[in-house]
Amino acid sequence: MKVLGISGSLRRDSHNAQLLRAAAQQLPPGVELELWDDLKAVPPYDADDDATLPRPRALRELDAAMREADAVLIATPEYNHSVPGQLKNALDWLSRPLVKSPLRNKPVAVVGASTGLFGAVWAQAEVRKVLGAIGAKVVDRELPVGQAADAFTEGGRLVDGELELVLADLLAELLGEVREAVAEAA
Ligand SMILES: Cc1cc2nc3c(=O)[nH]c(=O)nc-3n(C[C@H](O)[C@H](O)[C@H](O)COP(=O)(O)O)c2cc1C
Repeated sequence: MKVLGISGSLRRDSHNAQLLRAAAQQLPPGVELELWDDLKAVPPYDADDDATLPRPRALRELDAAMREADAVLIATPEYNHSVPGQLKNALDWLSRPLVKSPLRNKPVAVVGASTGLFGAVWAQAEVRKVLGAIGAKVVDRELPVGQAADAFTEGGRLVDGELELVLADLLAELLGEVREAVAEAA
C-alpha cells in the first residue's frame, strides 16, 4: 500500500516535511510513504493554460503520483490563519475537471505544524474543507503540532507522546478508509 505525502511548505528545512517523515516512521509494514516535493514547480492556476494540452509537467507528475497512491497525507503550514497559496493552487489544478480529479473518492488525511502555539489548526480545517469540495474521502481528525521548532526528537519522531498517539490514530483511520474503499470495489 502506498501513501503519497505532500508538504504544503516549499522550505528546505520545513517542519511539515519533518512531520511527514515522522508519520512515515509510524506506518505498519507493507505501507510506504512516498514524499512528493515538487510543489514549487506547479505554476499558478490559469483556466486558459488548463485548456491547453499538455498540462504543466509538475502537475502531470503530481496527478499520476496521486492516482498511483492508495491514500494521501498532506502536511500544511499555516499562513495568516489559512492555507499557503502554493498548496491551495495545486489543489485547484487537481480539482479540474472535478469528475476526473485524482482526489475524487481518494482517502486523504491532513496534519500540520506551525511555529506558533496552535499547530496550524485553521489551515488544516481549510484544507479539509477544500478536499471535501473536491470529493475526497477526508479523515476528520486533525494533528496540531505547535512550536514546531522544538517538536521533533533527533530521531525524527514527535517529542510529545500524546501527539504520537494522535498521529497513530489518524494514520489508522486513513488506512481504514483505504481498506473500506478496496472492500467496496470488490
Ligand atoms: C507568510 C507567513 C504567515 C504565517 N502565518 C502564520 C499563522 O497564521 N499561524 C501560525 O501559527 N504560524 C504562521 N506562520 C509561521 C509558520 O507556522 C512557520 O513559518 C512554519 O515553520 C511554516 O512551516 P514549515 O516549517 O513547514 O515551512 C507564518 C509564516 C509565514 C511565512
